[in-house]
Amino acid sequence: NPDFRIFPSAAATADAVAAYLAERLAAQPDIRLGLATGNTFVPVYAALVERYRAGGLSFAGAASFNLDEYVGLPSGHVASFRAYMQSHLFDHVDLPEGKGLLPAVDGDIEAGCRNYEAAIAAAGGIDLQLLGIGRNGHIGFNEPGSAFDSRTRQVELTPSTQQANKADFPASEAVPPTAVTMGIGTILETREIVLVAVGATKAEALQMAFRAGQTPACPASALQSHTRVLVFCDEAAASLV
Ligand code: GLP
Repeated sequence: NPDFRIFPSAAATADAVAAYLAERLAAQPDIRLGLATGNTFVPVYAALVERYRAGGLSFAGAASFNLDEYVGLPSGHVASFRAYMQSHLFDHVDLPEGKGLLPAVDGDIEAGCRNYEAAIAAAGGIDLQLLGIGRNGHIGFNEPGSAFDSRTRQVELTPSTQQANKADFPASEAVPPTAVTMGIGTILETREIVLVAVGATKAEALQMAFRAGQTPACPASALQSHTRVLVFCDEAAASLV
């Protein structure tokens, strides 16, 4: 079911995603965006900011909701997804922010997750959800085994995900053991999904997600049930699809 758009390089993929987002924003100025983080989106947001600076693009009527966040990092921590969003996007464009980030601190996490789902519903749902994909097929922080009808909640991170994200943290610090993430059920309710994957390390994940049967062992395979999924990837990531 996915519409694969394959590009020769990671940079060309990022440019194409930014061009597509700019086009969707122009067509629907009040678009509700679901935003993702990770290395994959650094050049995507950079290309989008470049387009914004060139003029003619405004996020003023849009809203955003982020996919996931670590639990327990102090506010402003360099590895928090809040800090990532500030430095790669929010500080550079006129996107109204505030409600679109998950609670990052310990406290009543369950209530925070419920409120987040309520905020998404009150905004009318998410029109376009950006997604990366983990090497093990995770989406957001929905690790293998996550139920396809899961909602926004606190989850444990696998050692492989902690290892993959270690470089974002100062050497003396461990990656937090838990995170909050939109659920797979939450993601499936979004109207359109734009999944981005670059590099050979993502080839097997794309194959498991879209060229094998659906299984909770590969959370991204849940996306086969969605009616509008675009996969922007480079040739290396697309090598097994
Ligand atoms: C992280 C994030 C995901 C992201 C994925 C891939 O753990 N929680 O939202 O899509 O892993 O990240 P990267 O783009 O750095 O490979």
